Amino acid sequence: MGKKRVLVTGGAGFLGSHLCERLLAQGCEVLCVDNFFTGSKNNLLPFLNNPFFELIRHDVCQPLHVEVDEIYNLACPASPIHYQFDPVQTIKTSIEGAINMLTLAKELKDVKIFQASTSEVYGDPHEHPQKESYWGNVNPTGLRSCYDESKRCAETLFFDYKRQYGIPIKVARIFNTYGPNMHPNDGRVVSNFIVQALRGEPITIYGDGSQTRSFCYVDDLIDAFLLFMATDQSITGPMNLGNPVEFHMLALAELVLKLTGSSSQLIFKPLPSDDPKQRRPDITLAQTTLNWQPKISLEEGLLRTIQYFREALAVAPQRSL
Ligand SMILES: NC(=O)c1ccc[n+]([C@@H]2O[C@H](COP(=O)([O-])OP(=O)(O)OC[C@H]3O[C@@H](n4cnc5c(N)ncnc54)[C@H](O)[C@@H]3O)[C@@H](O)[C@H]2O)c1
Repeated sequence: MGKKRVLVTGGAGFLGSHLCERLLAQGCEVLCVDNFFTGSKNNLLPFLNNPFFELIRHDVCQPLHVEVDEIYNLACPASPIHYQFDPVQTIKTSIEGAINMLTLAKELKDVKIFQASTSEVYGDPHEHPQKESYWGNVNPTGLRSCYDESKRCAETLFFDYKRQYGIPIKVARIFNTYGPNMHPNDGRVVSNFIVQALRGEPITIYGDGSQTRSFCYVDDLIDAFLLFMATDQSITGPMNLGNPVEFHMLALAELVLKLTGSSSQLIFKPLPSDDPKQRRPDITLAQTTLNWQPKISLEEGLLRTIQYFREALAVAPQRSL
């Protein structure tokens, strides 16, 4: 039998590039599809010359016909700065991208398809921590809606393709994840704090810093992706994947200052609209179904991420990477 051939849409992005690397290490052939809206070839450099890695520049809003054994659908800008840049394109990427990849899975038959959904489907939650059974509190017309609502619709599409055509689906609701290969200028809090600290610029805290988030290190998350994909057809999700340990933004900023040895000042700015006050996954389902839970502490993960940004910023000090 030949190698398993796996399609990763959004493979040049933060999570996608880690997934491609892990799949190659497991002996798969990887077909990476990306339009490079937020992704970068720099993220692919370690394996760009691997003969079992193929790269296609392609927009998932267009149909795709390739022969593969599994599909991971990650294509979509994930940070507010990027998904709000062209909201209509974000909606098209989520929804048309989902339809095109599900259509491909339907044509190929018995091909498992994984959807990178998000904790944003819970909006500004009234339930804490969030279980998969919670339906969410999402503003349908706000600035974040292009992302939140299109990701919700993509989930609906996945479940309807399963009900109507029997497609084996795996829907993961990913909570904040961080690590090497994050875009340095995308406004996500961990990369923001680290880049500001390393450049000696003021660290921007939105609100009073009392809002909480939970952060999962990327290697832990990719472990969960692979375990979820390996489950049998009856396991569809939606399944929360993330780290349930919660941190206040102020505490995160202070930890980043300590670990970088930076003397940056903290500055406070108003909270963006619809910014959730609290976010923490209930990962009981993943723990019991996948026998998985995050292993890497925030301090260890931050040290690895700081090391990555130290090297990346030394090569390109003021430019985006
Ligand atoms: N990183 C997180 O914390 C997080 C949390 C929840 C959900 N997610 C989801 O995981 C997926 C990956 O997120 P990420 O953090 O790696 O983001 P990212 O922006 O680094 O990666 C997204 C990738 O998709 C590509 N892309 C965007 N639009 C495309 C299109 N129309 N056609 C083809 N490629 C396109 C981008 O160029 C990029 O390489 C996204 O679907 C995101 O919604 C991520």
